[in-house]
Amino acid sequence: MTFDTPITIALSKGRIFKQALPLLAHAGIEPVDDPESSRKLILDTNHARVKLVIIRATDVPTYVRYGAADLGVAGKDVLMEQGGEGLYEPLDLAIARCRMMVAGVEGAQMGDERLRIATKYVRSARRHFAAQGRQVEIIKLYGSMELAPLAGLADLIVDLVESGNTLKANGLVPLEHIADISSRLVVNKASWKMKHATVMRLVEALREAVGRGES
Ligand code: PRP
Repeated sequence: MTFDTPITIALSKGRIFKQALPLLAHAGIEPVDDPESSRKLILDTNHARVKLVIIRATDVPTYVRYGAADLGVAGKDVLMEQGGEGLYEPLDLAIARCRMMVAGVEGAQMGDERLRIATKYVRSARRHFAAQGRQVEIIKLYGSMELAPLAGLADLIVDLVESGNTLKANGLVPLEHIADISSRLVVNKASWKMKHATVMRLVEALREAVGRGES
């Protein structure tokens, strides 16, 4: 496709970038640099008007909400945690798929006292346990959640599970399913209006790529 208006797309490096590449390629967008080897944060593409900005996954909604990027690729886990205010979420890209789960030590007995839950997904965890009417104390962590039950910091964790290998390697088991997670295309609301034709064509090209299973 051709781009008659400048477009900036925000995404994080690693799994999301790798899996988004074939989808972007279907829309005719190919980055000139590889973020894994380059230190550049703004990547040029084969289209002079299309730029990719490489940022932390949790920062993607912020860039898009403020219009610093027109579009972004954000995990549903991040969107659930931050809320989708100021964004449209027109497309499930069906990449970086995993599940948000409650997990704990296999066979552990839970007492009647208030359970302690370690997670970086504070809002999602609170909502999950509140919906069950369970009183819990949420302990915010920034990574390596699997360690918390082993070290006696928490009774349970809320984390993402893909293959289940990380849980297994640490003697943990998945206990409750909270949500199916995948990356979503998010669009700044002003860009949706002001750059409508280009944004819509891009969304439709990506939708077609997802439909063809090109990720
Ligand atoms: C994620 C998640 C788990 C692991 C699950 O961490 O937090 O630790 O992957 O994958 P598995 O079920 O296939 O073992 P990631 O490696 O993305 O790093 P993070 O801790 O920075 O989120």
